[in-house]
Amino acid sequence: MSIQKIMVIGAGQMGSGIAQVCAQAGFDVKLNDMKEEFFARGLGTITKNLSRNVDKGRMTESEKEAILGRLTKSLDINDANDVDLVIEAAVENMGIKQSIFKQLDTIAPAHAILASNTSSLPITELAAVTNRPEQVIGMHFMNPVPVMKLVEIIRGLATTDDVYQTIEDMTKKLEKVPVEVNDFPGFVANRILMPMINEAIYTLYEGVATKEAIDDVMKLGMNHPMGPLTLADFIGLDTCLYIMETLYEGFGDSKYRPCPLLRKYVKAGWLGKKSGRGFYIYES
Ligand SMILES: NC(=O)c1ccc[n+]([C@@H]2O[C@H](COP(=O)([O-])OP(=O)(O)OC[C@H]3O[C@@H](n4cnc5c(N)ncnc54)[C@H](O)[C@@H]3O)[C@@H](O)[C@H]2O)c1
Repeated sequence: MSIQKIMVIGAGQMGSGIAQVCAQAGFDVKLNDMKEEFFARGLGTITKNLSRNVDKGRMTESEKEAILGRLTKSLDINDANDVDLVIEAAVENMGIKQSIFKQLDTIAPAHAILASNTSSLPITELAAVTNRPEQVIGMHFMNPVPVMKLVEIIRGLATTDDVYQTIEDMTKKLEKVPVEVNDFPGFVANRILMPMINEAIYTLYEGVATKEAIDDVMKLGMNHPMGPLTLADFIGLDTCLYIMETLYEGFGDSKYRPCPLLRKYVKAGWLGKKSGRGFYIYES
């Protein structure tokens, strides 16, 4: 099956990055969000990224304009009625994602593949609310999308080999590296990464060290490019909490319980870089 038209749902950190790399690879992209201001924020990020590429001589002004020309605004999910692929990147919440997939199943053409950028939620459970579970798949991009090479491709229980192959080929067209994984909570990336971040938060919570010290230990001692608390701020503390809850619920193992400090920050609206404050404070 050939993919030309794509809809990306959610113009946040991940959705805007996914829309950008798809348009850069020559696909026509509808970028969907619930409100004009959310779309505008996503488009603003894309424009800024592309302008930086022009400034650094990585692309010409006319290439930038051509990429922006392939991006269309969508504030209505019914715009999915003529696309070949939908990549959902709305918030990490099963109820919200299932409601989106139910609607997409009735709106998108019969041949269309429905993909989710979920960090941890079971693809099989998303597929189960549609009448096309064999065409539902996970495409887990990494943050920031234009920079990071990996895409975890997650097969749901019913995903066909044809659909898997189409998505693997498409991922390569985005100049990304697909890695096949099976459908278990957190897949591979967040099964390993998120408990480490949660443990770093416990280390802060228990007063073992300051946030700067915890980050320094992991940067200087383990050669991580950024410390776990900084990384949590970049991912979004709400997303980190959703992922820990998915691991905790999915495995029923207390080793995955989210740190109370993480819950407290999320309740306070300290969501990390995107809200201006998380473990650290960010200029707007
Ligand atoms: N942040 C990360 O590092 C990261 C990495 C990989 C995957 N993910 C996953 O990507 C998804 C999005 O994460 P994010 O960090 O971009 O979040 P975000 O909060 O930056 O963006 C989410 C966007 O989705 C929009 N949205 C919510 N409900 C919607 C709906 N019904 N229809 C259309 N738009 C809707 C919101 O308005 C917002 O703009 C989550 O599933 C997350 O787990 C995140």
